Amino acid sequence: MPTIVLVSGSLRRDSVNTAALATLRRLVTERSAEAEAEVEVEVVPLSIGDLPHFDGDEEQRGDPPAVAAAKSLVARADAVVISTPSYNGEIPGVLKNALDWLSRPYSESALTGRTVAVLSASPGPRGGVDAQLGLVGVLRRVGARVVEHEPVAVGGAEELRTADGDFTDPTVLAGLGSLADAVLAAVGAADARVGA
Ligand code: FNR
Repeated sequence: MPTIVLVSGSLRRDSVNTAALATLRRLVTERSAEAEAEVEVEVVPLSIGDLPHFDGDEEQRGDPPAVAAAKSLVARADAVVISTPSYNGEIPGVLKNALDWLSRPYSESALTGRTVAVLSASPGPRGGVDAQLGLVGVLRRVGARVVEHEPVAVGGAEELRTADGDFTDPTVLAGLGSLADAVLAAVGAADARVGA
């Protein structure tokens, strides 16, 4: 069963990036319901707020439990989808911290060879798209396989989000749906069913 791990770059309870991933998850589910193939997809979130600040001394002593769990989750993922805010044009430090832990040790990075898709969301008009460049740069540097796709950046996200924390705007759904298709194709589950 292909596993897709979702990573929000924001810790905020009402995060528009977490909301974008929730909508992406729904779209993946809908696509699977429409598909005829007997393929199941498991979609699970990874909470980067549980990870301590990277500390080489702590790494020497052995991975803290939250780090070990995160590495294990990513290592068994067929694909990872990361939605990032732009903090002054870059990814938030908490997301960079998670990627740094996941990149270690270099010879055994859970991200090396991993299929990773990226998107961004922001209340601003450009949807935080400028942060994607740095994110893709880090991912390529650690040997991830970044899913080739037109940039998906949800702009004006606070206003477009529904009270349920979902997106129903047709343009947003088209972008997220296209990304969902690309991820499902990348994990070989273009015709898919979705599990927990
Ligand atoms: C921001 N924000 C922001 N937005 C943007 O579109 N471009 C930017 O350069 C920045 N810079 C920035 C820096 C810092 C330090 C913060 C805290 C915020 C606003 C940001 O997009 C907004 O807070 C989003 O709501 C963050 O995403 P979540 O938490 O809603 O997912």
